[in-house]
Amino acid sequence: MSKLHLHDLLRLHLILSEFWVDIAKEFFWKTKHTGQFLDYNFDVTKGEIFVKCMEGATTNICYNVLDRNVHEKKLGDKVAFYWEGNEPGDEKTVTYRELLQEVCKFANVLKLQGVKKGDRVSIYMPMVVELVVAMLACARIGAVHSIVFAGFSAESLCERIIDSQCSLLVTADGFYRGDKLINLKVIADEALEKCRDKSFPVERCIMLKHLSKEEQEASSPGSLSPPAKRSCPDLQSGPRQVDVCWHSLMEGASDECEPVWCESEDPLFILYTSGSTGKPKGVLHTVSGYMLYTATTFKLVFDYHPDDVYWCTADIGWITGHSYITYGPLANGATSVLFEGLPTYPDVSRMWEIVDKYHVSKFYTAPTAIRLLMKYGSEPVHKYKRSSLKILGTVGEPINPEAWQWYYNVVGDGRCPVVDTFWQTETGGHVLTPLPAATPLKPGSATFPFFGVVPAILNESGEELEGPNEGYLVFKQPWPGVMRTVFGNHQRFETTYFKKFPGFYVTGDGCRRDKDGYYWITGRIDDMLNVSGHLLSTAEVESALVEHEAVAEAAVVGTPHPVKGESLYCFVTLTDGIDYTTTLEAELRKQVREKIGAIATPDYIQNAPGLPKTRSGKIMRRLLRKIASNQQDLGDVSTLADSTVIEQLFENRCCTAL
Ligand code: WT7
Repeated sequence: MSKLHLHDLLRLHLILSEFWVDIAKEFFWKTKHTGQFLDYNFDVTKGEIFVKCMEGATTNICYNVLDRNVHEKKLGDKVAFYWEGNEPGDEKTVTYRELLQEVCKFANVLKLQGVKKGDRVSIYMPMVVELVVAMLACARIGAVHSIVFAGFSAESLCERIIDSQCSLLVTADGFYRGDKLINLKVIADEALEKCRDKSFPVERCIMLKHLSKEEQEASSPGSLSPPAKRSCPDLQSGPRQVDVCWHSLMEGASDECEPVWCESEDPLFILYTSGSTGKPKGVLHTVSGYMLYTATTFKLVFDYHPDDVYWCTADIGWITGHSYITYGPLANGATSVLFEGLPTYPDVSRMWEIVDKYHVSKFYTAPTAIRLLMKYGSEPVHKYKRSSLKILGTVGEPINPEAWQWYYNVVGDGRCPVVDTFWQTETGGHVLTPLPAATPLKPGSATFPFFGVVPAILNESGEELEGPNEGYLVFKQPWPGVMRTVFGNHQRFETTYFKKFPGFYVTGDGCRRDKDGYYWITGRIDDMLNVSGHLLSTAEVESALVEHEAVAEAAVVGTPHPVKGESLYCFVTLTDGIDYTTTLEAELRKQVREKIGAIATPDYIQNAPGLPKTRSGKIMRRLLRKIASNQQDLGDVSTLADSTVIEQLFENRCCTAL
């Protein structure tokens, strides 16, 4: 039987609806589900959109990914994480038993701080084991974690704390990214101050002391030996809130904590993703469906074996880290590498050094990292053997065939399948993906849907296109791990994902299906930009720019970038009487960084005394994209109100990158 037949058979199995039910049997349920396995409405014309998986069942995801592994599966001594710090030599190993103990202790700490089931907890931390501990401790007591990536600004953190109405913030003093010190607590304090100004005081902040005293004082970490012990006896409270020290709270805490049994559809976490209106959306995932989906996709897409060492280079602050550093791997009792640093520090061989050091067999990264390392050629890769590698994964944006080939041939020595996994914060886990060795690969294609996922391609009028075609990528039915709502705004959830084409979940991506049925993502077709695998909305960058008093209007588009995929090209119209200077340009760049975070720093800013608009005043971004990438063929410009602005914009193009 050919391997594709096996794929088809499994699909049939699913149609008999046994697939997930069988998988669910492998997990611990305090009580069984009473409702249907999957109940849903995807059609706005028929009422409210909802998805429910195993309604009525009670369980606890933390219990399933930790206690069950330690007690039932006897994996207590197995390594859960090899933590590798930013600085080579700074490392630590955590077993499943130790992780469970730490999680129980921190769960007790949270309870003592007054956190109860359903409460939201903000976590703003670097890539340390304690970040995993904090998130699982929340899950253990039924609290809802809202992790904010540690690269976000004070303003962004404040916005997310208020939107999710968090009662407590967990953070760290700081960390190094390469040779750069990030004083996280200073940013966190600023965020809490802003929250207070907006009448949302957060009373408690737990701070992990991560930096050693020497690290805090040093300007170059390379000269330091790895810090031995971290503690925070000299903690001083922030300006208004009560700061409490992680280490002293943990010292007194019991390492036993009964999990809080949650309903299947109780919220597990909120994770913010950019929205086209400019205001980030709090994507909400719930307990049971997310657990089943991340565990199963991890197992099948990475062909998990118990002796694997798995490494996903993403940050836990993004969905990839939630699903494929924490929940998916731990649910399978896997051993993972948790890396704090950068692919280029102290040199561009760091990744491969780590692969050899821990004998990594399954490796998962983003196209932007591959393109970045590709620039340095194969020599830094060849310095290390990489003979342990078996499967290479990619996620975050379409991977260009050149990067795919380099990944496959140079990193994987032509012997490891590349799994190009397409998914979103909203989908919870992989939705289009090859199964290694079973799916014949085509470089640049995320291939086929995962079990239970039913994609379709629609044209502008919402008609489903059959066979080879190109259009909007949508999904016809839910799978267990799909998001349930936008926190606090169910209407926005319906409008964003279900209004445009009733009956379908709209991804916002364009997609082509070839004659063999392979899916090829062509990129976003809404006002979103994908910079280094991170989504940003044009609106959020524009509003950061116009908040500067010198800017009257701004329009932001994406332009192709060799490493980042897309970079931000900003057109700004200044207020009357203001001159465009390099000082102003630097201020604008800083403004965006401070409002959103370093990932949103504009690559190009162009003075635009006039913007191309339709007669009704709508900015024609399509034309701005052409100008940004210097393409003279503008297509149809009949709706343009004043065509002279185009010439002027072409003349003033920014020609050089920063
Ligand atoms: C958007 C979702 C899923 C975790 C990382 C990003 C793009 C993601 C792929 C891929 C082509 C991809 C899409 C998607 N995307 N993976 N393998 N091939 N495009 O999560 O921030 O929610 O972004 O990333 O445009 O809609 P996210």
